[in-house]
Amino acid sequence: MRGRLILAIESSCDETGIALIENGRRIVANVVASQVALHAPTGGIVPEVAARAHLRWIAPVLDDAWTDADAAWDDIDAVAVTYGPGLAGSLLVGINFAKALAWVHDKPLVGVNHLEGHVYAAWLHDTADDDRPDPVFPLVALVVSGGHTFIAEMRDHLTYRLLGTTLDDAAGEAFDKVGRLLGLGYPGGPAIGRAAEAATRHDRVFPRAWLGDSYDLSFSGLKTAARRIVTEARADAGLADEPDASLPDDVVADLAWGFQDAVVDVLTTKTIRAAEAIGARSIVMGGGVAANGALRARLAGEAEARGLPLIVPRPALCTDNGAMIGAAGARRFAAGERSGLDLDARPSLPLAAR
Ligand code: KG4
Ligand code: ZN
Repeated sequence: MRGRLILAIESSCDETGIALIENGRRIVANVVASQVALHAPTGGIVPEVAARAHLRWIAPVLDDAWTDADAAWDDIDAVAVTYGPGLAGSLLVGINFAKALAWVHDKPLVGVNHLEGHVYAAWLHDTADDDRPDPVFPLVALVVSGGHTFIAEMRDHLTYRLLGTTLDDAAGEAFDKVGRLLGLGYPGGPAIGRAAEAATRHDRVFPRAWLGDSYDLSFSGLKTAARRIVTEARADAGLADEPDASLPDDVVADLAWGFQDAVVDVLTTKTIRAAEAIGARSIVMGGGVAANGALRARLAGEAEARGLPLIVPRPALCTDNGAMIGAAGARRFAAGERSGLDLDARPSLPLAAR
């Protein structure tokens, strides 16, 4: 028998995602229309282009989700939608679509914080008999996305205490910028991950911003160092006066590895230290950068060495999607939360305070 469903909509950045989530955790449908190809020529997201693409694709994405789910409006308990943080124009498309659906079908509307979605992706299951363990409280959550990077403590559902946050760039932003410096195109994150796998030397050392004992993070110095290191590598390769020539692939691979290793080292070390300090019983990680193979492997190894379960969604659930909004939305709905039809976009919506 079919359980109760949440219809969830995500449009905060450059992915149009709609999902149907059963009993708060099982993915019945999860359709994502990516705008990566659309933004590749500009090497980054142009907000108005992103908003128009959401407008173009949101209804077809919903149709595909219904087809995959084989469900009906009678099965739906509520419509959940990301209302921030994100690009205003992009958020407005999803929110307005969600409101129209909730109003026409007389269903409750639940506004969801996108960052809470990245955290709650850790509770998602692909099948009803999936025996993946649920995260256990207290836990430490590491969220690493294109716009946000922070470490938070959760002692219970839906409550967060900020332990540390980036003081400048998000980790994903640093990946994207350094990817561009290395001529790897857009988005830089996945491209750096792939390039680093081909590295052979593993001796390019990039600086780490430890910031003392703090759980805060900083990536802008790393980005500046990367610019200098790439300029030096170009000079070494005899390319100083040839701005259009690309570095040899093996040099790009070694540099990608060095940069990635610096990010992974700091994120892992601080997350593990935070987990030990609060007496965490598990760690969860989410956000686009959590799709990075090196970060997943390193954090998994260090967590296992301390007997700490690490719960990380599969890579497609780390990057933006509707299912994670459904997981968080179901939890908010169960806690009695409802949004009015006056729900507005909150581009700078925070998740946690210190
Ligand atoms: O969470 P997300 O999909 O969107 C935001 O909420 O920002 O994260 C996107 C970010 C981008 O910066 C992208 O380059 C990065 O996640 N990313 C990765 C990988 N896949 C996506 N970074 C490193 N390695 C990856 N495999
Ligand atoms: Zn995201």
